[in-house]
Amino acid sequence: MNTETLDKVRLEVNGRLDQKNKSKLGQFMTATVIADYMASLFDKNTKNAKLLDCGAGIGSLSISAIKVLKKVALVDQWEIDPIMQEQLEKNMQMVGVNFSIHAQDFIFGAVENIRSGSGERYTHAIINPPYKKISSSSEHRQELRKVGVETVNLYTAFFALSILLMEKGGQIVIIIPRSFCNGPYYKPFREMMLKECSIEHIHVFESRNKAFKDDEVLQENIIFKVTKGKKQGAVEISQSTDHEFHDYQTKSVAFAEVVKPNDAEVFIHIPTGEEVNENNPLFSASLSDLGIGVSTGPVVSHRMTEYLEKNPTADSVPLLYPHHFVDRQFQYPKEHKKPNAIRVAPDSQKWLMPNSGFYVIVRRFSAKEEKRRVVAYIINPAEIDKKWIGFDNCWNVFHVKKHGFDEVTAMGLACFLNSTLLDGYFRVFSGHTQVNATDLKNMKYPTMATLQRLGKKYQSTMSQQKIDELLGVSE
Ligand SMILES: C[S@@+](CC[C@H](N)C(=O)[O-])C[C@H]1O[C@@H](n2cnc3c(N)ncnc32)[C@H](O)[C@@H]1O
Repeated sequence: MNTETLDKVRLEVNGRLDQKNKSKLGQFMTATVIADYMASLFDKNTKNAKLLDCGAGIGSLSISAIKVLKKVALVDQWEIDPIMQEQLEKNMQMVGVNFSIHAQDFIFGAVENIRSGSGERYTHAIINPPYKKISSSSEHRQELRKVGVETVNLYTAFFALSILLMEKGGQIVIIIPRSFCNGPYYKPFREMMLKECSIEHIHVFESRNKAFKDDEVLQENIIFKVTKGKKQGAVEISQSTDHEFHDYQTKSVAFAEVVKPNDAEVFIHIPTGEEVNENNPLFSASLSDLGIGVSTGPVVSHRMTEYLEKNPTADSVPLLYPHHFVDRQFQYPKEHKKPNAIRVAPDSQKWLMPNSGFYVIVRRFSAKEEKRRVVAYIINPAEIDKKWIGFDNCWNVFHVKKHGFDEVTAMGLACFLNSTLLDGYFRVFSGHTQVNATDLKNMKYPTMATLQRLGKKYQSTMSQQKIDELLGVSE
């Protein structure tokens, strides 16, 4: 079946899918250009390939893989949706290979095969798995635990089970959201993957939305190739602006650049573009070296509705949200659908922070389309005439032992966090659009001496250019 026909069929089936199931089953099908690219990452000249495609949809990935692998002994496909299964069957018959469609939930089928040692083991897997969080008490999680897999999303569950179903030397090419690379909840999965496999290749799309442009997917997707049981060597990192691959670039990097030696969090970094030199003195101190801590804003507003006040009152204190800042300037109170204040009571006070010293706060959520991923604001105690401050959960708050700290250090820290250099570093360091406290805790900062020097000159109203000029002054 040629590319155009397959893409037409894909769009036609997409229109027939039950809209409710689309997000429940994570039904975002791969365009043929991406499927072909993914298949091209397999090592060539394989004999008697045994191919796995779990969450196969209409079979686009299998079809691309079969074109590349040529000598295919069998194709095993798992697909749970009857509409997809029907088209899958038709498509595969046209290709004319030995195939089996397992009209079944892959998690249950794979766990059964792994536990009983039955079913096939594969030389190749090509996967675009469904994405959906799986809660700790769900049937899927309980099933996965039977084979020692602990993970929070269907996509890492599919990835982990596929790893367990591969023969030694088996290659997996998978397209997945980037969030597993450093999300704290994905650490057990990262450890498992790195224990079992070597990372061979990572492809990133610079602009999200485009990889699945027919489906308005807002996840940032990456393509990963791993080989089971192979000694880890250098990693190929490639990038293209979009799914057309016109400006495809690739380079080889040492594995230590991808997973830092001794990194307890086992983050997967994807070094593209301008990397920050690790020896740069602006990135030489850890946050704990500086004696500073960072935590998520403690006030979860929807759990404390009885204490929230639309406007400030005598017995309430400011509850801060991003709209309280315009051009990094504090503006309080503000007419807004969100409350301005939180009442101080015995049960609410433990979620408030003392208005003593300066805090630096950073938003947790920013759209990828926004210019900067990290934006830091200063909380000056003189601008708040109350004893306590409520920081909503949408913030990360830098503090010293849950209190504010001295003005110069705070200004220096905000200057560094607002620099272009840091933003570039953070994008390499963190794949997702969220800025988590864990990421801020694990990245590197300037020494205290440099922070002090920056802090003496920084003002919150400074232009980006001016901030970047200040950063040019390192130790
Ligand atoms: C992201 S789509 C990808 C489809 C296809 N691989 C492609 O690339 O076009 C994921 C597919 O997995 C199927 N699916 C979702 N949950 C499943 C499960 N538990 N077991 C088997 N298939 C599942 C969905 O119906 C959907 O067709």
